[in-house]
Amino acid sequence: MQETLPAALYRDPLAYGRERAAVFDAGWQFLGHESELPAEGDYLASEAAGRPVVAVRAAGGEIKAFHNVCRHRAGPLTQDGRGNCGGELVCRYHGWRYALDGRLRSAVGFGAAEGFDPRAFGLISVRLALWRGFLFVNLGGEAEPLEALLAPLDRLFEERGVRLPAASFRRSHDLACNWKTYVENYLEGYHIGPVHPALAEEVEVDAYRVTMHGAVALHEVPTRSGVNDGLWAWVWPNLAFNVYRYGLMVEHMRPIGHDRTRLDYLYFHEPGADLTDMLAASDQLTAEDKAICEAVQRNLDAGVYETGVLSARHEVGVGWFQSRIATLLR
Ligand code: FES
Ligand SMILES: [Fe+2]
Repeated sequence: MQETLPAALYRDPLAYGRERAAVFDAGWQFLGHESELPAEGDYLASEAAGRPVVAVRAAGGEIKAFHNVCRHRAGPLTQDGRGNCGGELVCRYHGWRYALDGRLRSAVGFGAAEGFDPRAFGLISVRLALWRGFLFVNLGGEAEPLEALLAPLDRLFEERGVRLPAASFRRSHDLACNWKTYVENYLEGYHIGPVHPALAEEVEVDAYRVTMHGAVALHEVPTRSGVNDGLWAWVWPNLAFNVYRYGLMVEHMRPIGHDRTRLDYLYFHEPGADLTDMLAASDQLTAEDKAICEAVQRNLDAGVYETGVLSARHEVGVGWFQSRIATLLR
């Protein structure tokens, strides 16, 4: 019998502070797909557990990543999202200009200052790696190679013939819960009957299986009908690949503080595919999961529940996740 993590870890800002270092800085964080920045100067900026990061396509086509933090007085270089910065990254506070390789090109209007060497004030670069065109950053710089983390997905994508058309768009949803509350909900199919009645009609709930492959949790279930392909793959600590019959959705479960989570969905689909059914199904599942996760969070916050137990039959993924969190926060 495995006990659950103590409820305090789901409501404590200090626990989240420790997770930022031990989980998010130490691991790989999803940023986006290279097709979102096709031209020189195109950038993609986001926050990885509260650390602003910007990836930019430099001259020659290479993509580089930096902390989105100016070396003068910590101004932002770009707003979050996508755009084109032209030939350089210009701080939005006092206008310092950086080349796309991070060098400080000009401390605009700064004036004379004895001992100030602009070469020592380049942007702080961040370790970046690509897998099948997906961009990931590792802020701590010491995570295992990205290919090793994602090797189980390589096999899966090949077996299932998952293709990635370039067409893509994003949508986001905000949840009033700790990120672990949502991730754990994602990691089991036990709740499908009560929480997702429409999905329960489409899949063989009794045959739902979650298996761990390294740090990847694979969900497989035979489908009877509908837009889902019965395949969902989660990757430590907060990413998932949701396979649909005519596309793929990458789901990034981003903490925005200890009590807020933002789901960033990045959709890939066959050109011209009618997405009405897929988006309706996706929105419905998200709304159902949001409602239950926020209700669970309110109960965790209420202070009555301390710990519970996990089902070896249904909650293998949750158990693996909680053990890893416990080890890292020890
Ligand atoms: S903070 Fe960037 S120029 Fe001042
Ligand atoms: Fe769910």
